[in-house]
Amino acid sequence: MRPECFKFCRRGGMPRSLVVIGAGGFAREYQAHWASSGRSDYAIAGFVVTGRTAPDNANRAAPFLGSIDEQQIAADAFAIGIGNAQIRARVGGDLRTRFPAAAFPSLIHPRAQFDESRNRLGVGSVICPGAIATTNVLIGDFVLVNLSATIGHDVTVGDGCVINPAANISGAVSIGSETLVGVGAVILEGRRVGSRCVIGAGAVVTADVPDGVTVVGVPARPIRSVANGSG
Ligand SMILES: CC(C)(COP(=O)(O)OP(=O)(O)OC[C@H]1O[C@@H](n2cnc3c(N)ncnc32)[C@H](O)[C@@H]1OP(=O)(O)O)[C@@H](O)C(=O)NCCC(=O)NCCS
Repeated sequence: MRPECFKFCRRGGMPRSLVVIGAGGFAREYQAHWASSGRSDYAIAGFVVTGRTAPDNANRAAPFLGSIDEQQIAADAFAIGIGNAQIRARVGGDLRTRFPAAAFPSLIHPRAQFDESRNRLGVGSVICPGAIATTNVLIGDFVLVNLSATIGHDVTVGDGCVINPAANISGAVSIGSETLVGVGAVILEGRRVGSRCVIGAGAVVTADVPDGVTVVGVPARPIRSVANGSG
């Protein structure tokens, strides 16, 4: 069957088209954050899913366009509306390969505190309302810093990480790529957290966490580990 083609182009002063990857809860939150940000450079044309994501049944403020693997989707830009760290990073990589000319705009919500003259933010990343990054914070590509999370001075956060709501990351922490920091977790100053780790909700990280390790509790203790953090 010939794939349908959805094509969105910029005409005159019209905003460029932005397609959101994902059609679940965080994708809808992303749309709400975009709408309340007042950004007018792109307009959300719709939501799509990939083989790594599935739609939910909720009402969306923009149309559901189907699977990006089955439809030919042409957009000016893509945003990743996915809350899973490893899937964010992998979908970001897939999209860059498949759509080399597309943009991956980052969103810093106006109710967040993230001064780009003091901090650095990669492409396709989202700083949600209430989140704060202080100074000399380096955030990679396709990172999600969710509602009211705080990130102190001199922190690095690798590609694809997800920092869930109200997590507190103290100064000089380093976090590898594709790591999830659970809601309300605390990482004490100077600790090193590896790649593809999971910091459980409410955990207090008092010691370094090697690649691929899941920790929970206060103080945080490992409950599982994936060889080389590559699982
Ligand atoms: C850490 C986490 C990923 C583990 O999930 P899981 O692999 O499904 O683990 P399980 O639920 O099977 O729990 C395994 C054990 O760890 C304990 N545990 C799980 N999460 C815990 C947490 N956050 N704090 C303390 N203990 C926890 C469980 O009670 C269970 O203990 P038991 O074996 O003694 O019964 C998950 O619980 C978590 O905290 N995720 C963060 C989610 C989040 O931030 N959500 C917000 C979205 S906006």
